[in-house]
Amino acid sequence: MRPGTILGIETSCDETSAAVVVDGREVRSNLVSSQVDLHARYGGIVPEIAARAHVERVVPIIEEALAQAGIGYRDLEAVAVAVGPGLIGSLLIGVTAAKTLALTCGLPLVGVDHVEAHATSAALTTPTPPWPAVALVVSGGHTSLYLVRDFLDIELLGQTVDDAAGEAFDKVAAILELGYPGGPVIDRIAREGNPKAVRFPRTWLRRPHLNFSFSGLKTAVLYHVYGVGAKYGSAAHLTPQQVADVAASFQETLVQTLVAKTLAAVERSGVSNVVVGGGVAANSALRTALQASCRRSGLNLYLTPLPYCTDNAAMIAALGYHLLRCGRTADLTLEPRAGLLRPPRAAVRRG
Ligand code: KG4
Ligand code: ZN
Repeated sequence: MRPGTILGIETSCDETSAAVVVDGREVRSNLVSSQVDLHARYGGIVPEIAARAHVERVVPIIEEALAQAGIGYRDLEAVAVAVGPGLIGSLLIGVTAAKTLALTCGLPLVGVDHVEAHATSAALTTPTPPWPAVALVVSGGHTSLYLVRDFLDIELLGQTVDDAAGEAFDKVAAILELGYPGGPVIDRIAREGNPKAVRFPRTWLRRPHLNFSFSGLKTAVLYHVYGVGAKYGSAAHLTPQQVADVAASFQETLVQTLVAKTLAAVERSGVSNVVVGGGVAANSALRTALQASCRRSGLNLYLTPLPYCTDNAAMIAALGYHLLRCGRTADLTLEPRAGLLRPPRAAVRRG
């Protein structure tokens, strides 16, 4: 056994991923098998299809991750797996694979919170852990602000009360008939558009809450494109320039809200470091806006490198390593959980 060598498994949504990470930061392999092609024709993830694809892919991807790292099962110190939140059928496949390995190879088993792994993913490439920090997690399923005091001391400060930021990107892309997933395509098209062309409403929610709401923004885009009260139709009446302008204006509105709330969280917690993770952290406009705002405010910004923004097992193995070192192992009764592993605090629920 090589101490510190952790196998990570991630199957919480539509990506099957396995990684080998040493000491929580040396990524020896990180394989991601995307199911985008399977779900694109439905305009979103179909849970049953996702779970079946994980069943087919999980064992080969684990073996490939070990092979790329040049190790075998006997070299592992532990196996870490995302236990939630996510799609229950998808999570079940990864957790079952991890439990099977733990039992058959005699490995310690570590259950990892998927969102906390996004919140700490920036530390995969920083020379020293950037804590304490405010963490913005923006993905297809979550939009949350955390105060990360340490890998194992993570406090939820606020979260979306309806749609997640990535979900808003995906839905607006559907409204504009741009395909799925929406984030990368809107990111690209918005570069040709005018972000000031349409003024969409910003939803701040009652201050000083650090919660988000994006469902009003999505509806505003829908009504702008098809008229008030409209349902989805064809966006064929829009010119390519108008589509780009709507995409850019939507993106600008969403990014401004994310940046402002992140700075408010920093002010409230008195930290000087900001970390950002999750699929939407790959968004170029968000990265640029955060860089400018943090520079102006004298804050240190740690953007998660692109391969670790969208769902990946390296971030699961990395956080799993720190949990293991603190004795937070699980036994074979470990169960996946669809909802947040930690119930939101009262202040979050009031938002
Ligand atoms: O973290 P992730 O892979 O899965 C979840 O945990 O949800 O995030 C996926 C989300 C999708 O909604 C996708 O549209 C969005 O991340 N996304 C982006 C970009 N790349 C991926 N959103 C905006 N800009 C991008 N460049
Ligand atoms: Zn995720």
